[in-house]
Amino acid sequence: STPRLTIDPAFVVGPVRRRTFGSFVEHLGRCVYTGIHDPGHPTADEDGFRGDVVELVKELGISTVRYPGGNFVSGYRWEDGIGPVEERPRRLDLAWHSTEPNTVGLDEFMVWAAKAGVEPMMAINLGTRGVHEAMDVLEYTNIAGGTMLSDLRRANGAEEPYRVSMWCLGNEMDGPWQTGHKTPEEYGRLAAETARAMRQIQPDLELVACGSSSSSMATFGTWEHTVLTETYDLVDLISAHAYYCEGDSDLGSFLASAVDMDHFIDSVAATADAVRAAGKHTKRINISFDEWNVWDQARVESYIPSPTGDDWPVAPSLLEDHYTVADAVVVGNLLISLLRHTDRVHSASQAQLVNVIAPIMTEPGGRAWKQTIFHPFALTSRHAKGDVLQVVLESPTYETTRFGEVPLLDAVATFDAESGELTVFAVNRSQGEALPLAIDLRDGAYELVEAVTYSSDDHAWQASADDDTSVLPVANTTATVDGATVTATLPAVSWSMFRLA
Ligand code: AHR
Repeated sequence: STPRLTIDPAFVVGPVRRRTFGSFVEHLGRCVYTGIHDPGHPTADEDGFRGDVVELVKELGISTVRYPGGNFVSGYRWEDGIGPVEERPRRLDLAWHSTEPNTVGLDEFMVWAAKAGVEPMMAINLGTRGVHEAMDVLEYTNIAGGTMLSDLRRANGAEEPYRVSMWCLGNEMDGPWQTGHKTPEEYGRLAAETARAMRQIQPDLELVACGSSSSSMATFGTWEHTVLTETYDLVDLISAHAYYCEGDSDLGSFLASAVDMDHFIDSVAATADAVRAAGKHTKRINISFDEWNVWDQARVESYIPSPTGDDWPVAPSLLEDHYTVADAVVVGNLLISLLRHTDRVHSASQAQLVNVIAPIMTEPGGRAWKQTIFHPFALTSRHAKGDVLQVVLESPTYETTRFGEVPLLDAVATFDAESGELTVFAVNRSQGEALPLAIDLRDGAYELVEAVTYSSDDHAWQASADDDTSVLPVANTTATVDGATVTATLPAVSWSMFRLA
């Protein structure tokens, strides 16, 4: 049968949330140093932040940015990063076997976030620290003045409090690699007590408890259940993290990565609702998908070995994945999955923003360039507006090693009642066949505003510092509208966007 999408503006899942288009800046490799911060760079401003990177962040359409980690945060002392830069300590960063110079800290990050026009989302250290330090960093960040730490912030140059709303209670505490890794019972208790104290300072915070680091963790499901049983009334969101790569199995399974993301989200929502029922709670816990991306750890190892032994470098090149066109199609598909779960996914952060598994790359002192994955993200962030619509999808299927039989086509739509604009995002996961697509808009009468497709005959093509423009999203000239039916051809391994009004 012809692959078909049936779409009606009456079938609303929920609002498009700007926070779906968040990102992540960790003190890891060259994300901060020579990434967003490079005082010697020709475009650097008076604070040492690269102007070219800020411009690309705006073009990418980033909403929130999670900071300062990641695994890094589980050994971090936030107070090392405040006050006169020349007096800040250099510390071992166990997570990435690096030296942290603390040149950039909380105040610098807030300055950068304001320049980039993004909402900061802070993570606190619940690996090696606890309730007290969480109270301290919150006082420094959000209290107007009149106390030691809020006055210290003012003395450090920030008169106004930063009013950060979203706080992550630790990072990946389910992972044995995490400094201060905990059992779900240990973490759940610590998260609950930390949340209670933070809410005594500021009741309306939006707090994120740590969920699972991937759906393949042995504790997936039971971790969420135990942690939420301890924390239910004290937190708002539970986190989810997922990274996908071709190297895990085969291209067919990789192209269907969104099937795992769908399963992850549905399972965490079901688990949260089970805790809700058992505890007779009324509110719902939603999901902060605050780390997601394509990350090929095998591919990276072949580029750059991680530091070991006595070598503790400052800002080494780490996790600098170079992305293919197929990777970009998967990223576009993961955004489709996040959008279609907008009823339960209230925030998400692509990991990460610059140089480290990132859409934006920089040459130290040199140019900034766009990876393939930049394009579907930027277009989805710009054009997903209004409400997310439920899409009825008919598609031929194919067999995958990891997920069994899955549809070749995947799609989501958004509808903006104010402007009347309807946008469809679609992927063709087939490795060899173009798909003829029909979009049935029922009673609607639309005109085609724009149809773009991102694909290449060579889906292994990667952008580089020398060439990030050979493969760009281009007009899909096969797209036509006839009454309430749009038809188009989706090339093999492709991501597309159709804008109608
Ligand atoms: O984003 C890279 C790392 O992946 C993060 O530090 C950690 O939270 C996750 O394991």
